Amino acid sequence: MTKSVLIAYGTRFGSTEEISSKFAEIMRNNALDTTVINVKKDKWPPLDDFDAVLIGSGIKMGKWTKEAKRFFKKNVKTLKEKSFLAVFVSSGEASYPEKYQEAKEKYVQKIITDLGFDLNKVMHEAFGGVFDLSNTSKMGWLDKKFSNMAARDDESSNLTENEYNDLRDWNQIQSFANEATTRILQL
Ligand SMILES: Cc1cc2nc3c(=O)[nH]c(=O)nc-3n(C[C@H](O)[C@H](O)[C@H](O)COP(=O)(O)O)c2cc1C
Repeated sequence: MTKSVLIAYGTRFGSTEEISSKFAEIMRNNALDTTVINVKKDKWPPLDDFDAVLIGSGIKMGKWTKEAKRFFKKNVKTLKEKSFLAVFVSSGEASYPEKYQEAKEKYVQKIITDLGFDLNKVMHEAFGGVFDLSNTSKMGWLDKKFSNMAARDDESSNLTENEYNDLRDWNQIQSFANEATTRILQL
């Protein structure tokens, strides 16, 4: 029987939304019946309808979006009964090899264990982030100013001033989606 998947994400600037869309594209190409919701804007469907659930959030000032966190917390009981759960974030810190492991621990693993899940049973990952320093950026002017300063003064930031900087590793994102797809198809 066709397996059904829910991808529920919270985003502030669009990065986690794009990662979720890529997941959905790969899963649909593999005949998974995939629903994607923005937990802030869309109605939350009943989780009983899904065989597998993926939850994602962007990180700002060390925090998940409040709606993504609420979605995760509210559904703990039902999610514990699912055979497949994945959790992911898009985080600026995770873009840098020297900060990746810490970002994964504090932004992904911590919430999973805090909510009482077994880390070994939840597929999880921290993906890098986007710093949009272009004219059309959704970033506030002050945030943009500080990020532009980092772009100018800190070479290790890998950022270019006044440009759209995508520090996500799309191979990592695709591999994660492929692995998740394989596991869901085997349920
Ligand atoms: C104001 C601001 C604060 C941020 N704070 C953090 C942070 O504390 N930790 C982090 O890893 N990334 C931080 N980032 C980077 C974001 O995590 C990155 O842009 C991510 O792609 C955002 O995902 P979203 O577009 O789905 O919200 C910050 C970005 C901005 C603009």
